[in-house]
Amino acid sequence: MPDSVLVTGATGTVGRHLTELLCGRAVPVRAMVRDTGRAAAVLPAAARTVPGDLTDPAAVAEALDGVRTAFVVLAEDAGEAFAQAAEKATALRHLVVVSADAPDDSAHRGPLFARHADGEARLLATGVPVTVLRPAPFATQALAWVADLAAGDTVGVVHPDLAVPVIDPRDVAEAAAVVLRGPTPVRRRVLALSGPDLLDVPARVDIVGAVLGRRLSVARLEPDEWVGRVAGRVPAAYARGLLDVERYLYERRLPVVPTVRQITGRPPRPFRTWVEDHAAAFGAPVRGRSSKEAS
Ligand SMILES: NC(=O)c1ccc[n+]([C@@H]2O[C@H](COP(=O)([O-])OP(=O)(O)OC[C@H]3O[C@@H](n4cnc5c(N)ncnc54)[C@H](OP(=O)(O)O)[C@@H]3O)[C@@H](O)[C@H]2O)c1
Repeated sequence: MPDSVLVTGATGTVGRHLTELLCGRAVPVRAMVRDTGRAAAVLPAAARTVPGDLTDPAAVAEALDGVRTAFVVLAEDAGEAFAQAAEKATALRHLVVVSADAPDDSAHRGPLFARHADGEARLLATGVPVTVLRPAPFATQALAWVADLAAGDTVGVVHPDLAVPVIDPRDVAEAAAVVLRGPTPVRRRVLALSGPDLLDVPARVDIVGAVLGRRLSVARLEPDEWVGRVAGRVPAAYARGLLDVERYLYERRLPVVPTVRQITGRPPRPFRTWVEDHAAAFGAPVRGRSSKEAS
């Protein structure tokens, strides 16, 4: 297919939006997925799916065959298999990788940081020009509060005063869609992406409460208490990794940046818009249905 864009992580939050956007603009998409059945159910029919695991260099090589531009999600091997295949992909001209802000010094590296910092470095070492997107924490992180909000009106977190410029993943996808079709950098370009507002946890919880019509509050938990509370849903090692990220972000104080508007030509969506569009996930009646139907 001429001038296809390879989208990895196409069944994920950002990848799904990106695939829809590109297909909607008549850009040929080759979507690399682990589960073709699930992909067929969630992706537009115009997207051509290729099966494969991102940690398998042979599968990535097949997916990259003849492709000039690729959107890369870093898998658990921190981009190693992708980089090996990219080094041999003769048509490849531009990689757009979705990463995250992470510390450069190895002393502070937990596994979640290593995936991003090492993955960026490994892709850059391929010699293929790379655009790195470093989005702020996604609005979707609020879904971690669903269990607390099903049980009561208090959200328990370890760092309530952690303020981040939370971004709607649809804005990450929109920025990626533009960058994938725009000029290729000579070697490396890094674009931090953020939402429009710096919001701490009580501010975000207030917005969720306003949308749901509930009076909600926030409780500060000790790290062990929080890890125990989420144990049924999040493995302990991963939960501790998330707390490392929070501690890093607390010191880092990510700012609001104007890049989404600069890249896409329109302002990033406020957190409230994301909550309104996902209110059903928090147990609110689905809009457009009668309360009888929704119950
Ligand atoms: N969440 C945040 O707050 C945040 C903030 C900054 C940056 N980021 C970055 O943004 C990226 C995209 O986030 P997202 O929310 O869209 O992720 P997501 O919803 O978890 O989706 C991840 C996608 O990658 C695919 N995938 C994972 N491992 C794979 C493998 N070994 N082989 C093939 N496919 C694999 C998944 O496929 P399956 O459907 O088969 O599982 C899924 O399609 C993340 O990877 C993270 O690096 C996230």
